[in-house]
Amino acid sequence: MQSNFIDAIKLRRTIYHLNNQSTISDQQLIDQIQAITQTVPSPFNIQSGRVVILLGGNHHTFWNIVLETLRKIVPEASFPQTEAKIQSFEAGYGTILFFDNTPSVEDLKAKFPLYKQHFDSWADHANGMLQFAIWTYLAEQNMGASLQHYNPLIDDEVKKTFNLPLEWRLVAQMPFGSITKPAGEKSFLPIEERVRVYK
Ligand SMILES: Cc1cc2nc3c(=O)[nH]c(=O)nc-3n(C[C@H](O)[C@H](O)[C@H](O)COP(=O)(O)O)c2cc1C
Repeated sequence: MQSNFIDAIKLRRTIYHLNNQSTISDQQLIDQIQAITQTVPSPFNIQSGRVVILLGGNHHTFWNIVLETLRKIVPEASFPQTEAKIQSFEAGYGTILFFDNTPSVEDLKAKFPLYKQHFDSWADHANGMLQFAIWTYLAEQNMGASLQHYNPLIDDEVKKTFNLPLEWRLVAQMPFGSITKPAGEKSFLPIEERVRVYK
């Protein structure tokens, strides 16, 4: 049977070549990201994932923070390469930041000490599910995106600039926009190596 869900999962790829157009209205994007964030599961229904949608000038401000942070640590000779990479993300329509609200996780550790060593990684699992769901939704709307990790280098400056709670931990950054060049070939391991069936 045909499944739109599986089709959307297959469509999602890492897309680095983006422009500043969107196939979705801002309101539609916000509404759907809110719906996804509300619906994606979390350990003990902790709901510690936080999402920041940066559009317009805020998207540019964000990538400028990344660029200026990297300028301080990347050797001058390789900086033009770094700059080109950051510009390719900034060329997109917007950026979605994924955070975890650490007090929610700490509360859970206090409430359920038996599981406390698992909660940090479970919070990351839930954040990954959220990232995947939003990434796949964007793909379904014919929008390209990639997943970046400039945390923790940029965390303080980002929180200061966008007035975000200090307790939020930045987990991932997702620049997105219309696709100007599709993803290349992707190789796959034999699926029998990864999925075993006993029946
Ligand atoms: C947890 C996770 C972390 C990743 N981190 C990065 C990253 O920091 N930078 C990047 O360019 N791609 C990153 N990627 C993208 C992967 O390289 C990419 O998903 C993988 O090569 C498969 O390609 P596809 O996304 O086109 O299917 C990440 C993907 C995952 C799932």
